[in-house]
Amino acid sequence: MPYAPWMETVSALRVKSLYKVYGNRADKAMEILRNSPDGDEKLAGLRVTTAVVDANFEVRRGEIFVVMGLSGSGKSTLIRMLNGLLSPTHGTVEIDGVDITKLKPAALRKLRREKISMVFQHFALQPHRSVLDNAGYALEVAGLPRAERREKALQALRMVGLDGSADKLPQELSGGMRQRVGLARALAAGTDIMLMDEAFSALDPLIRREVQDQLIELQAELGKTIVFITHDLNEAMRLGDRIAVMRAGRIVQIGTAEEILTDPSNDYVAQFVADVDRTRILTASAVMERPLGVVDVDSGPRVAARVLRETQTSAVYVTGRDKRYLGTVTADAAAQAVRDGRKNLQEIVSTDHVRTVEDTTPVADIFAAAAQSPAPVAVVDPAGRLAGVIPRVTLLSALGSLSADTGETTATPEPADEAGTAPTADPTRAVGAAGTAPTENGNATAEVPAQVVAEPSVRLTGGSA
Ligand SMILES: Nc1ncnc2c1ncn2[C@@H]1O[C@H](COP(=O)(O)OP(=O)(O)O)[C@@H](O)[C@H]1O
Ligand SMILES: [Mg+2]
Repeated sequence: MPYAPWMETVSALRVKSLYKVYGNRADKAMEILRNSPDGDEKLAGLRVTTAVVDANFEVRRGEIFVVMGLSGSGKSTLIRMLNGLLSPTHGTVEIDGVDITKLKPAALRKLRREKISMVFQHFALQPHRSVLDNAGYALEVAGLPRAERREKALQALRMVGLDGSADKLPQELSGGMRQRVGLARALAAGTDIMLMDEAFSALDPLIRREVQDQLIELQAELGKTIVFITHDLNEAMRLGDRIAVMRAGRIVQIGTAEEILTDPSNDYVAQFVADVDRTRILTASAVMERPLGVVDVDSGPRVAARVLRETQTSAVYVTGRDKRYLGTVTADAAAQAVRDGRKNLQEIVSTDHVRTVEDTTPVADIFAAAAQSPAPVAVVDPAGRLAGVIPRVTLLSALGSLSADTGETTATPEPADEAGTAPTADPTRAVGAAGTAPTENGNATAEVPAQVVAEPSVRLTGGSA
């Protein structure tokens, strides 16, 4: 393959056929898995746990890559192999092109110090050290002089809005603040890669939202590469540029939130996502339709009037040079312009009549615009071009078929498939040692929708408002 600079820079982290099998006969289990990839039943009797099986993915620089799965699905095992805290049974982990599975302990420690920080669920703060000293801990380990350490730690605390609490002890802070100290510690370390294992899972929902927002903001500012682990689908959808869904040690799908919602790779994923608030995830571009009447701004008002008659709509969408969206012209305005003898639509095109949203606007934020808009809401792309329109009917039917958890679904809920597709914490996969496998969280199955909801199509057709 010819040399291309982006090949080296595009991914910060690359995982290839990565496995972790716990148990004495891991090698035998590996052999079986390699020869028959789905042959888990052949592992019975070996008393091994296949925690991670054949993981393959790349994390792009500056991306938030979420790994989502139920308790026991192998997330922590996976993330611990990413920074070498656990060595894989098989496979490679490359950080900036270096296979860390081949590094000697000292080289590995150096790489961790310089390139990867980790944020844990339970903060791991030291109770007798000030917030400032906690934030600067990684720098202390790295042997930085005190003054420099303080400065960097303070700067990191400022980023998370905690510089006012620098001299406090962790116990004087709320849970949300403590977790932000954990975040500050990772930021102070100045590494490009941050691994976050259920970092926000212990927080109350509202506080959790706050720290999620903060992470998104920091991410936009600092462009860190983040691997974020969660068992919470909504958190995954909020944070993830891309999401890897894990089940029983295997990554069953990798995609954007929208891809996973609209095109789940199998029943398991479909069921997992059935109760998510889609209106927050799906964006205008997922529900928009082709606009019926579009005219060029240089057209005469008679053309506009004709298109209005033909399409039986109350406004035409007017575009200018480079297809840039300029606004709409109503039937009344077009008729008046004909009487006034105008030559084009330049002076009568208006953005007052029809609301405009961006193609990335969440569906939830379009309802108000749609309610105020007598004709379908205009959707513009980042270049300002008319990408599509959203008739109110479309939005309402989208809402109906999307709110799968309200009982107002257009699809008929069916009992869960018996054929083992129902997501569970999968204790049984500690093959031959069922029941001995600990999970972090005994009620993991409570997070899973009890019913399978047939996947409605979100691209609704027909009908203009
Ligand atoms: N040190 C270990 N020894 C044996 N089994 C383990 C060990 N750590 C985790 N496991 C098992 O590996 C599977 C995956 O665990 P883990 O990676 O912690 O999942 P998650 O983080 O998704 O909850 C589970 O069945 C768990 O019991
Ligand atoms: Mg875990």
